[in-house]
Amino acid sequence: MNKNPGYREYTQDIIIPYKIKVNPFTSYIGKNICYYDLIGSTNEKASEIAKNSNSSGTIVIAETQNRGKGRQGREWISTKGGLWFSIILKPNFSPEYASRTTLITAVSIVQVINDLFKINISIKWPNDIFYNDKKMGGILTEMNAEIDKINFLIIGIGLNINNKLPDLLEDTSCCLKDIIKKKIDRTDLLIKIIIQLEKNLEILNKDNINGFLEKAKKLCNTINKTIKVSTINEEIIGKCVDLDKNGNLILQDLNGSKRTIFSGDISLLRNEI
Ligand code: BTN
Repeated sequence: MNKNPGYREYTQDIIIPYKIKVNPFTSYIGKNICYYDLIGSTNEKASEIAKNSNSSGTIVIAETQNRGKGRQGREWISTKGGLWFSIILKPNFSPEYASRTTLITAVSIVQVINDLFKINISIKWPNDIFYNDKKMGGILTEMNAEIDKINFLIIGIGLNINNKLPDLLEDTSCCLKDIIKKKIDRTDLLIKIIIQLEKNLEILNKDNINGFLEKAKKLCNTINKTIKVSTINEEIIGKCVDLDKNGNLILQDLNGSKRTIFSGDISLLRNEI
């Protein structure tokens, strides 16, 4: 009941770009923001912007997307209340390091959410954010590059926060508000994620990323598990034993040989090998 007659509480759940822009804890991510109520895909828009301007750190945010893109050409359902945004990066490192960026983004998201809400979300390599056995979000990193030089990277982040999931996703996906049983300030969460991301991205400039990789492995729900990897060409079953310095997965296959997996769809299998 409203204890204060005459005063109507108004807490609209919209993202406030200005707050992101003026946060004093990032130096380049979020200093330029393109905000839309409805757009096809923030990744697509970010790509257009990146081709035409000097835009490292620009964020494209949308309240809703009607052509949201998931990995491997899948549709990403993006209704009101989620966090759907893409960050443009123009880094100086070589294209082989691009997959580290996805891992660093995933670690940043998990560190922030676990710390803020005292829950235990994890990374399902390479790009999914999971709570128990349900998907809470995903990352779609797209690269425009030449052989030895990245022109730009688009890091697309989709997180189910205050949105209502369609029935067809209810068994496999989840939203943060249902886990912590209250609505979340999405502007505040986005700011915390970009602060952590900017901090973690500094690691890419350093040769020794072992400390970071140890943290990443602890947050990765696939390490030491038996998994099936489906790539475009084959399916491989094995035990996920490690992550290499670029964030690729090291799998020990059924013959005991170690293989580096650069991308693919992962299913966790129940039986140990
Ligand atoms: C996946 O798990 O398949 C990755 C999903 C990535 C979705 C986000 S939402 C914001 C950005 N814009 C897009 O069109 N896709 C990414």
